Amino acid sequence: MLRSFRSIGLCFGTLAALDAGCRAAPKPGSIKLVQLRVESRRDPIGLDAPRPSLRWQIEADVRGVRQAAYEIRVARSEADLTQAGRLAWESGKVSSDQSVGVPYGGPALGARQRYYWQVRVEDTDGRRSAWSEPAFWEMGLRSATDWSARWIESAIAEDSAVPGPSPLLRKDFTLRGKPARARVYVTSLGVYDLRLNGTRVGNDLLTPGWTDYTKRIQYQTYDVTALLRTGPNAVGAILGDGWYRGTVGFFGQRHHYGDKVALLLQLEVTYDDGRTEMIGSDETWKAATGPILHSDLYAGEAYDARLERSGWDSAGYDDHTWSAVKAMPPPAAALIAQVGPPVRRIEEITPVRIFTTPDGLTVADLGQNMVGWIRLRVAGPAGTTVTLRHAEALDQAGNFYTANLRLARQTIAYTLKGGGPEVFEPHFTFQGFRFVAIEGYPGKLPPGALTGIVIHSDLARTGEFETSNQLVNQLQHNILWSQKGNFVDLPTDCPQRDERMGWTGDAQVFASTAAFNMDSEAFFRKWLGDLAAEQLESGSVPWTVPDILRTWALRRPGSATAETIPAAGAAGWSDAATIIPWTLYLAYGDRAILEAQYRSMVGWVGYQEARAGADHLWDGDDHLGDWLDFFSIAKNTRFGSTSTDLIATAYYAHSADLVRQAARVLGENAHAVRYGALFSKVREAFQRAFVAADGTVGEGTQTAYVLALDFDLLPEKIRPLAAAHLAEDVRSRGHLTTGFLGTPRLLTVLTRFGYLEEAYRLFERREFPSWLYPVTKGATTVWERWDGVRPDGSFQTAGMNSFNHYAYGAVGEWMYSTLAGIAIDPEAPGYRHVVIAPRPGGAFTWVKASHAGPYGEIRSEWKIAAGRFQLVVVVPPNSTATVRLPGAELEDVTEGDAPLGPAAGVSRGRQAGGDVVVEVGSGRYLFEYPSARR
Ligand code: BGC
Repeated sequence: MLRSFRSIGLCFGTLAALDAGCRAAPKPGSIKLVQLRVESRRDPIGLDAPRPSLRWQIEADVRGVRQAAYEIRVARSEADLTQAGRLAWESGKVSSDQSVGVPYGGPALGARQRYYWQVRVEDTDGRRSAWSEPAFWEMGLRSATDWSARWIESAIAEDSAVPGPSPLLRKDFTLRGKPARARVYVTSLGVYDLRLNGTRVGNDLLTPGWTDYTKRIQYQTYDVTALLRTGPNAVGAILGDGWYRGTVGFFGQRHHYGDKVALLLQLEVTYDDGRTEMIGSDETWKAATGPILHSDLYAGEAYDARLERSGWDSAGYDDHTWSAVKAMPPPAAALIAQVGPPVRRIEEITPVRIFTTPDGLTVADLGQNMVGWIRLRVAGPAGTTVTLRHAEALDQAGNFYTANLRLARQTIAYTLKGGGPEVFEPHFTFQGFRFVAIEGYPGKLPPGALTGIVIHSDLARTGEFETSNQLVNQLQHNILWSQKGNFVDLPTDCPQRDERMGWTGDAQVFASTAAFNMDSEAFFRKWLGDLAAEQLESGSVPWTVPDILRTWALRRPGSATAETIPAAGAAGWSDAATIIPWTLYLAYGDRAILEAQYRSMVGWVGYQEARAGADHLWDGDDHLGDWLDFFSIAKNTRFGSTSTDLIATAYYAHSADLVRQAARVLGENAHAVRYGALFSKVREAFQRAFVAADGTVGEGTQTAYVLALDFDLLPEKIRPLAAAHLAEDVRSRGHLTTGFLGTPRLLTVLTRFGYLEEAYRLFERREFPSWLYPVTKGATTVWERWDGVRPDGSFQTAGMNSFNHYAYGAVGEWMYSTLAGIAIDPEAPGYRHVVIAPRPGGAFTWVKASHAGPYGEIRSEWKIAAGRFQLVVVVPPNSTATVRLPGAELEDVTEGDAPLGPAAGVSRGRQAGGDVVVEVGSGRYLFEYPSARR
């Protein structure tokens, strides 16, 4: 390979040389570049990353394609890309197979500036791609000095004791010509809905998103060129309470960050002649209240359409009765460009039935536990109020059940203005629900009156998973829907009751499954930035991010909740600080995430070290334990039956090990040694305290074994003993006993230590407790509890019973990586080298899965039919794969009808025990051989 590199190198240096084609004839086939991404987004505008991370994918019509070199060029206009001397940066030929996480390497990027870029590559067989289609990114505002507008708030008196009307802010302005380019940079304290000339700007919801507004506030950038015109124009914004001052948390807390909502907006216009103009938020704006009487994330919204101010967001509206606004000092927080994907309306659902409950309510069943709201169509007399209440379930008698929502009212009240059909969607709230109770609807409810609007962070779907077991397919559906419903700007525990908070433990266990299903990189990158920002001086990481428990208690000293401020980071929760960056690095292969989070990772382990002290045992602190494990049901506790000292010490060791691995990737060699030594010490402490010579770990719970084995905490010779104890426990009980921390890796550990049969037994089980039990009870999302609905049909305690909690959905990782066999190689992350190793078992006869990774589509589809095992594998260009064919004899295996061997892209297989292992390059392959199973 090196030799061919050099021969390319001679020719790759200049454009002229390339165009002259001065090189040995390439092998047949062609390659093309697609899916250019910047910071994992397509053509993003409003970036503030100083060295944006670039990536591209190769499309090829031949097998075995590897990139040998790339060349990037960047210019300030599309035309300049092809003008010699006009480039802002050219990488020159870089001999490298890197096509993911390539940092921009040119001069400092200017605020507001758009950069066009192209890339071309050569592969190791001498094929050259053409220059890719141009793509672009655009910088936003970079520093405080780029902002000259003022923060403004309505001067109208408000009663802060109760949720009040959402203020409208507006301003008329005149443009002397049609703008050649216009951008609005906008953010708020609270959430905003922005209008220009009567049109909503963008389709993002709940902007600017939830961060700790005392530390960092995101702003959004919109291209509004098409919305502006010569002459009179108007800009308007509605401000909602959102996370800033609305209810968040389980004590009904409001006003976490402040009492007044406010707006910051900078509309920057450039005319054809290059002159610019800025219309910013300032004291010349006007304020009024409108039809939104109150709008709260949990409580819902009350809207009186009779109070609408028609035309308020258009030019020429008479606002002389409106009130003044006040400029306020800018918050101390840093303004940062939006990092993650925005929340948007993603799909619509029509009710499957409308019926009357035994106690007489009219209820619509959407057929799917979903997150978002109802679009209401209604006609009737002015002043009529239609009320919509939202619930996840019906009780045993078939009545509308809201007790598990606790304080979250989830109620929409719409008062008609009359005079014709009216269509309404709420503004600054969302509901988690499958059932809607409708009261006050004028006349008979016609079909089409209610439509479910599903909202979530707009992440590309990257995973497909289907099997011969319909219940498992429903489980996958449920996992996906719990991901949708709990990826609303941040990873939450649940989307319906009075929490919806960024619980770190839930996010930690689910992150790898999430990354299979959807492109979660930028989504988590944003939240990890919040996590680092919330980390305390001591390195402690809060239980939830943003940490509203603490923020609120600090704002209300002496309040009842002051004692509830978590004094210590919690094992398995706060470890999100180390686990999620590592998970993202493995799934996406971009070391930038490790660079960004490294300080935070080290800080967290520093905290663990300090708490554990010289004996390296982290004992004595309070933790959340193996939350909601099977035993906690009988004991009526929540913290599980595995000692929290054991769990804390295990996670301490694991986090130290992850910092060691991150240090190695980042070239922090001294650290790699230091954290390697720390890992050994903590492991020894763990062994001394919790491991018996016969392989018993701790109390002998499944979770104790899972953590010890998964985190490699046992001496080599003890491992098989411990694994045997775990397997024996599974066999004798016939079911799992694990909670939030033990469950996610239970099947992975059983599989790894040779107990595949036990893993399948747990996975295929339908009775309580199991993953499929909720499916047999009609679940359409993942439940928080193994027995959310008990076998007798009654509910678990209403105080803790969400039907949309993704934590147990973390089994998705095993489903993709073991059942389907698409696995990551930690030495070549991001699927640069893929491991395809399906482990058929149980009663499954076929499984199909695919994952769109950073290099392109990966696919593994196996089936057993007529005594033959068939495996279709797809490996994306610039990746390679090791394919493990289960239960195969070398001489029996064919690939695409020919014996294994010289086919393009396939290296000869080798027998590895009962399996055959084949190394392949990119391309599509079909392996087949006789199966021991029928
Ligand atoms: C949340 C969980 C969370 C737990 C920890 C619950 O109220 O819903 O998912 O991780 O608290 O205490």
